[in-house]
Amino acid sequence: MTALSAHSLYDEAHARSLADPEGYWGDAARDIDWFKPWDTLLDRSNPPFYRWFKGGELNTCHNAVDRHVAGGRANQAAIIYDSPVTGTIQIITYLQLQVMVSRFAGALAALGVVKGDRVVVYMPMIPQALIAMLACARLGAVHSVVFGGFAPNELATRINDAKPKVIVSASCGIEGSRVIKYKPMLDAAIEQAAHKPDRCVIFQRPQETASLVAGRDVDWEEAAAAARPADCVPVAATDPLYILYTSGTTGVPKGVVRDNGGHAVALKWTMRTMYNVEPGEVYWAASDVGWVVGHSYIVYAPLLHGCTTIVFEGKPVGTPDAGVFWRVINQHKVGTLFTAPTAFRAIKREDPNGEFIKRADLAGFRALFLAGERSDPDTVQWAERMLKVPVVDHWWQTETGWAICGNPIGLCQFPVKYGSATKPLPGWNIRVHNPENEEVARGDIGAIVAKLPLPPGTFPTLWNADDRYVKSYMSEYPGFYQTGDAGFLDDDGYVHVMARTDDIINVAGHRLSTGGMEEVLASHPSVAECAVIGVHDDLKGQIPLGFMVLKAGVETSHEEIVADVIRMVRERIGAVASFKHAIVVQRLPKTRSGKILRGTMQKIADSKEYKMPATIDDPAILPEIADALQTIGFAKAAA
Ligand code: COA
Ligand code: AMP
Repeated sequence: MTALSAHSLYDEAHARSLADPEGYWGDAARDIDWFKPWDTLLDRSNPPFYRWFKGGELNTCHNAVDRHVAGGRANQAAIIYDSPVTGTIQIITYLQLQVMVSRFAGALAALGVVKGDRVVVYMPMIPQALIAMLACARLGAVHSVVFGGFAPNELATRINDAKPKVIVSASCGIEGSRVIKYKPMLDAAIEQAAHKPDRCVIFQRPQETASLVAGRDVDWEEAAAAARPADCVPVAATDPLYILYTSGTTGVPKGVVRDNGGHAVALKWTMRTMYNVEPGEVYWAASDVGWVVGHSYIVYAPLLHGCTTIVFEGKPVGTPDAGVFWRVINQHKVGTLFTAPTAFRAIKREDPNGEFIKRADLAGFRALFLAGERSDPDTVQWAERMLKVPVVDHWWQTETGWAICGNPIGLCQFPVKYGSATKPLPGWNIRVHNPENEEVARGDIGAIVAKLPLPPGTFPTLWNADDRYVKSYMSEYPGFYQTGDAGFLDDDGYVHVMARTDDIINVAGHRLSTGGMEEVLASHPSVAECAVIGVHDDLKGQIPLGFMVLKAGVETSHEEIVADVIRMVRERIGAVASFKHAIVVQRLPKTRSGKILRGTMQKIADSKEYKMPATIDDPAILPEIADALQTIGFAKAAA
């Protein structure tokens, strides 16, 4: 195939997906088993609430599991659980997965879970997390997975919003060599939450036995052993499959809803189009089921496509070394790896010359995909040099469920432009707008927006918050979805994502709200005013940094207050926030109208050049801030 004809494949697909979305996605939907065909492929009657495959009925678990058992993949590995932290490798075939999922679905049903009920899943990276999710899908129940690194308070917020009938958890997670007890965190969250689940199912791991609350908690194994296997329940294409909470611009997380029909169609379609993967291949997303990447590419997409998915319980370094990714790729014949750039930065830092890579046999390895944060050119180029396979930076969000932009290597391979996530995928009409909702010139930075309707499998609404959905995403640029990212389109149509337009920061590929952290700092009795910004970090991309102005007359030492707020953020948001730096200052730089100049503070902390803002109230504050930052190792160039 010539480069030209390959590119025209993309052009044709992209153009058709926008001109005739019904035709384009109707064709893709043939790859999914439907119990009842849809009446309306795209219901446009109530914008911005577009609904795909209205009237259709299917079951996502059937498509991800049972269909493959019936279709000849019964003895193929569905899941390979590779856990360097426990020294375990377990292979689960599609047939075994069907037995485990249908039994666990039966156990949930016996606890009263029916179609439409919510089930919160708070689990480490073990196959039972996937089994719990698929069991919910089987029953038509709506799962809401909460990442294990979140503290009880964050879990409680999500319990209050989702109002689960049942919570599924495990006795512990394992972080490197540390056993993290999950059950006490779950108990504390339920204690704090206004909504109480009827029951909890606890998977007891050998590393830690959790005590069970009589009458509320049941043991996973006992419940599954006693259960009658449950069949797949037909659900409407537009029924919710899951809710996934993500950081919003305040401390209150947003429950992104994903439906069943559009999700199954789009995710299966991405496996060929975006990732160039065929059924039967081994696909590895080194992420966590608590994040959207984990939902889409550890669980649903590879299983919908009949692939083998890897559940990896470890870190890119330290479990036991920077060679673990290559060991897993080689041992399990992984064709495609998807991870966050931060993981590669961690590996590069420990093994800059790629000694582990040179020793590994990576013959069957075909492509590396990066997302979760912007891929810095250094890291992409290092990975290309070391691995000698295409390295694809693709841009997406919890809200979108799959990539907005990327190099769709299943259709064609565009030349790489470092720092760009290449082109909009089929289904995405991406524009860059100014605040007047007009398109800006090519090369100019503005808000990145997507013309409605969004493609299937993306973002029908926020859980129980249609108004917030409209207000946060659909109002500022009428007719468009506001991504919250800023950037530009270049003359070749490549998209360059540069920064968030809100208070979201990206710490080791984890999305966090600085507003949420500010709420914690502000609740300290000695703090009068505060600001949290994201500053550059070589490993994690960004880390949070807090500034506090104290109330008059506070006598407590600054060290004590800093230690307090670091502990408080860990307790209320979680270890995942990586909040380890805070500083007391006399005052915060502000505009004359009282807005804190966070952007300028960030530039100073990152030792970058900055322009004195024209609207600053008192320019003398900025050198004070730089001096204070130098005492804790930031703002180095200014020294
Ligand atoms: N359960 C409990 N605690 C968790 C956790 C979990 N599932 N995941 C992370 N944590 C804790 C960590 O133990 C750490 O705690 P500490 O401050 O006591 O050390 C803290 O949260 C921060 O974790 P993390 O951001 O993972 O940093 P790290 O220093 O342990 O590891 C990397 C750094 C780069 C190796 C790691 O962040 C990484 O592999 N990132 C990939 C990110 C990713 O997969 N993102 C998903 C989007 S694709
Ligand atoms: P999350 O919802 O956790 O997936 O985070 C989504 C946000 O991460 C996006 O809005 C971007 O700000 C950022 N992001 C993810 N992938 C990329 C990428 N490939 N390039 C630039 N930014 C990215």
